[in-house]
Amino acid sequence: MNVQLVSPTVEMARMEHLPAAKRLADKHKRELGFINQAMLQKAIETDSLLVTTLAIDASEAERVRTEIELAGFIHFYVRRDSVVTLYSIVVAQDYRQRGLGRRLFAELVRIACSRGKTEIRLKCPIELPANAFYKHLGLKIARVEEGKHRPLNVWTYTMHNQ
Ligand SMILES: CC(C)(COP(=O)(O)OP(=O)(O)OC[C@H]1O[C@@H](n2cnc3c(N)ncnc32)[C@H](O)[C@@H]1OP(=O)(O)O)[C@@H](O)C(=O)NCCC(=O)NCCS
Repeated sequence: MNVQLVSPTVEMARMEHLPAAKRLADKHKRELGFINQAMLQKAIETDSLLVTTLAIDASEAERVRTEIELAGFIHFYVRRDSVVTLYSIVVAQDYRQRGLGRRLFAELVRIACSRGKTEIRLKCPIELPANAFYKHLGLKIARVEEGKHRPLNVWTYTMHNQ
């Protein structure tokens, strides 16, 4: 299939993105843990899933019209207090190191600010390469938690410090 990444946009996920989001999550169980379809569906219903879609090449449009693929997504939860929790972020292997993760995170920061929130918080297993990504983005490690299965870095991003 001829898939192009044409000026990728970050947008709020719609129900038509659900199967592709699930496929992407399933490919990254090791990093993200198991994310079931109901969780993703709820995230879409509550405007808590941002996605970067892939454009399908026009020559293939007839055959693959119904197949939407995602280059990445970010799943979050806007808490009642001042914090936004980032549950998971992923960019498909083929599209990494092109700034998509940064763009997904930047859009989350924009949303958090627009909702009057001052902090983004997430937990990441200490052995994952994603820790270097968070550091590049200016997040700080608040503490290390034991976690159920493995130690976790608790990262925070404070809006008014940026
Ligand atoms: C973490 C992840 C989302 C990053 O996505 P990405 O699109 O490759 O990130 P970007 O291209 O936007 O990178 C932004 C910056 O972080 C850096 N960076 C990204 N991944 C990195 C890594 N593994 N090691 C070191 N630096 C990294 C980039 O070099 C870039 O730096 P720069 O802007 O100074 O050049 C992606 O690697 C991924 O999906 N990993 C698997 C899922 C995962 O582990 N999720 C987190 C679970 S806690």
